[in-house]
Amino acid sequence: MASSRGEFSSRLGFIMAAAGSAVGLGNIWGFPTQAASNGGAAFLLAYLVLAFTLAYPALMAELIIGRHAHANAVGALRLISIGPKTRFLGTCSGSIGFIVASLILSFYAIVAGWMVALGLSSLAGLVGLSDLSQWLGEFGLVRNIVFMLIFMGLTIGIITGGVQEGIERWSTRLMPILLVALVLLVAYVLTLDGAGEGLKVYLLPDFDQIFTPKLIIAALGSAFFSLSLGVGTMLIYGSYISDKENLSVLGGWVTLIDISIAVLAGFLVLPAMYVALHNGVEIFTASGALISEDTLIFTVLPELFATMGLAGVIVSVVFFVLMSIAALTSSISMLEVPVAYTIEEHGVSRRTAVIAIGSAIAVCSTIILFNFETLFGLVVAITTRYSQPLLGFVFCMYAGWVWHRDNLLQELQKGNPGAEHTLFWKIWPWYVRLVCPIIILTIFVQSVIG
Ligand code: TRP
Repeated sequence: MASSRGEFSSRLGFIMAAAGSAVGLGNIWGFPTQAASNGGAAFLLAYLVLAFTLAYPALMAELIIGRHAHANAVGALRLISIGPKTRFLGTCSGSIGFIVASLILSFYAIVAGWMVALGLSSLAGLVGLSDLSQWLGEFGLVRNIVFMLIFMGLTIGIITGGVQEGIERWSTRLMPILLVALVLLVAYVLTLDGAGEGLKVYLLPDFDQIFTPKLIIAALGSAFFSLSLGVGTMLIYGSYISDKENLSVLGGWVTLIDISIAVLAGFLVLPAMYVALHNGVEIFTASGALISEDTLIFTVLPELFATMGLAGVIVSVVFFVLMSIAALTSSISMLEVPVAYTIEEHGVSRRTAVIAIGSAIAVCSTIILFNFETLFGLVVAITTRYSQPLLGFVFCMYAGWVWHRDNLLQELQKGNPGAEHTLFWKIWPWYVRLVCPIIILTIFVQSVIG
C-alpha cells in the first residue's frame, strides 16, 4: 500500500512543500493586518511565543502521526486507535478535517483570485490598457468569479500531478521566488518616508495589550492558520515523508521558515501602511481603529502604489504576484487533504478525485461570492476560529493519550536512532499530552464565551 503512494524525493522537497503550505495569505495578509489592529509589537510577541510553544508541538503531532500511518487523516487516526470508540472518533475527526479543509479552500480561492486580478490590473495599467486595468481592479461579481475559477484551475492542475511532479516541483520553484520578491519589497518600502513610524508600531510593544484575551485568541488563531494546522494538511504531508528523515528537525525548519516569513511580511505591511498615511491615504477612523481590517491591504496598498508613480506600478505587480504564488503553494496543500482521502479510502483515481472535488469546491466558492456579506465572514470564522483549534486539540489527544508512547518513540527513532536522548523527547510527549490540549481548550472556551 505504502509503495503506491507518493513520497517527497528529498528533505528539501518536503521542507519547500510544507513551508509552501504554511507560508500563504495568512502570513502576508493575515498576520500583518492582525498585528496592525492588535497593538503591533504586542501581537508580534504573543504570536512568536504561541507559535513556538503551541503551534510547533501541534505540528509535530500531525507530522508524526502522518508519517507513521503513511495514510490520510481518517486512515491514520483509525490506525493508531485502541478500540471502537477511538476508531469512531478518529473517523469523524478525519472526515470533519476533510470538510473543513475544503471550506477553507473555498474562501481562500476567492481571496487568492483577488490577488491574481489585482496583479494583472497593475500590469494592464502599465501597458496602457486602462479600461481593462480598472475592471480588474474593481470588486465586481463577475471578476471575482472568473478569477476564483482561474485560481482553482491552477490548483487543480498542480494537484493532478501528484506529490513529486505537482506539489514538490512547484513548491520548490515558487518558494525561492517568493522569498526574493519579499526581501526586495521590504528593502524598498523601508526607504520611503513614513516607514519609520510603522516600524515603531511593529517593534515597540504596548504592554497593556499583551494579556488581553482578544489579542491572545487572535494570535493563536493566526499561528494555527499560518502553520496549516488542524485539518490534516500537515498530517498528509507528513505521510509523504520518507522514514529516513528526522521529523523533529524537519518540523522545526518548517516552523522557523513560516514564522520568519510572517515576521518579514510585517516589515513590509506595517511600514507600507504608514507610508500610505504619510502620502495622504486614510488608514485610521476617527476613533483610531484601522479602517476595515480585513480588506485593508486590498484598499490601502493599491492606493499607496497609486501615489508612487511608475515605481508604484512595478512594486504593485511584484507584490500581487508574490501574494498569488504564496496562495498557490498553500491552496494545493488544502486540496490534497480531500483528494488523498478519496483516493485512499474509496479507490478513485487521482485525476477523477481532483477534478470532482476541485469542481465541488469551486461551486462552494461561487455560492459564497453570490452571498458574500452573509457567508464569507461566517465560513472564515467557523473554519478558522472554531474548527481548526478543536481539530488541533483532537490530533494532540491522539498523539498524547491514544497512541502508545513506545510506538511514538519508535516512529521518531526511524530517522533518528538516538531520539530518546533528545531534548525533544524529554519535553514534547507530556507537552502534547497536557499543555497543548489545556491551553487550546482554554483559549477556545474564551473565544466562544467572549
Ligand atoms: N497556512 C496557509 C497560510 O498561511 C494557509 C493554509 C494552507 C491552511 N493549508 C491550510 C490553513 C490548512 C488552514 C488549514 O496562508
